[in-house]
Order: sequence, then C-alpha cells, then structure tokens
Amino acid sequence: MAKRPIIWAPDPVLKTKCAPVAMVDDEIRTLMDDMLDTMYAAPGIGLAAPQIGVTKRVIVVDVSEKNEPNAPICLVNPELLWTSDETAPHEEGCLSIPDLYADVERPIAVKVAYLDRDGEKREIEAEGLLAICLQHEIDHIDGILFTDHLSPLKRNMFMKKMVKAKKARAREQAA
Ligand code: NI
Repeated sequence: MAKRPIIWAPDPVLKTKCAPVAMVDDEIRTLMDDMLDTMYAAPGIGLAAPQIGVTKRVIVVDVSEKNEPNAPICLVNPELLWTSDETAPHEEGCLSIPDLYADVERPIAVKVAYLDRDGEKREIEAEGLLAICLQHEIDHIDGILFTDHLSPLKRNMFMKKMVKAKKARAREQAA
C-alpha cells in the first residue's frame, strides 16, 4: 500500500471520462488500497482514480466520523441507478481543488450499483453526506469537478486561484 500524489485542477486527466474496469483483479485491489491510503493521509472522505492519474472507473469513500472506526467503501464501475427528485445545497470541497469550497445543489438520496473488491455486484442506497460524496466521486470518473456545477463566473475564479496555487506548488517543489 502506498500514498500517491494527488493531481490538482486544472489538469486534462481530471476532465477525462474514465474507462470501465473489465475485471476486478489484484492490480485494481492495489489501486484501491493506494487510493484509501492517499485519501486518509490527505485527509479526505472520497477519492476517484483520476485524482491520482489513473483513468479507470474506481472510487473510494469513507464518511465515518473521526471517533468511529474507518468504514471504507470501494466501488468499481459505480453507476447511479436512481436519484431523488428532492435536491439540496451542501458545501463541497475536493482534494484536487484544495482550500476552495462552494455550495453544490444535488439530489439528497441516491441508489448506486457497483462491483466490490471481489468483483461481486452490489447496490447501495445512500442519503446525507454519503449520497453527496458518491455523486461527487462518480462525477470525477466522468471528468466532472464540483466547480463545473457552479456559475461560470465562480468556476473561472476558482480555476484562476488553482492556476496560481499550482505555480506556487511547482516553485516549492523546485526549490
Ligand atoms: Ni473531488
């Protein structure tokens, strides 16, 4: 298991529609373990494979409270089967867009089909934070960032800040 560098927006890999996984094998399980390590180290509550540069339809989430045991869920080829008509705004952030947050309006409940670590077909019904997190991560594997749900004005403002942040990080790494 290993922590991997998180790619920051703007980056073409984060705008890529990712390919379905043909078979859940050891390579995919290692990818999921690395994604969990990277997510917990950040720390974050969700991570999608493109955020570490892998354009495959794999996401991991864990919305457990800090004082609770970890409760990771690894989802391969996740697919939204149903979303509630009722929507609500909730503040979102993203490990690829650090330190920037904004309200995003989304359905409050979802049903998602996926393959688990053993390649078994599963379904999960979620509401609250887990429903938001699943939608945010599924967006990622379709090349969509939470900023894409904002007004063009706000999105441009966020991306300008990210371009500056990326330059500053590159300078730090070069120094
Ligand atoms: Ni994100």
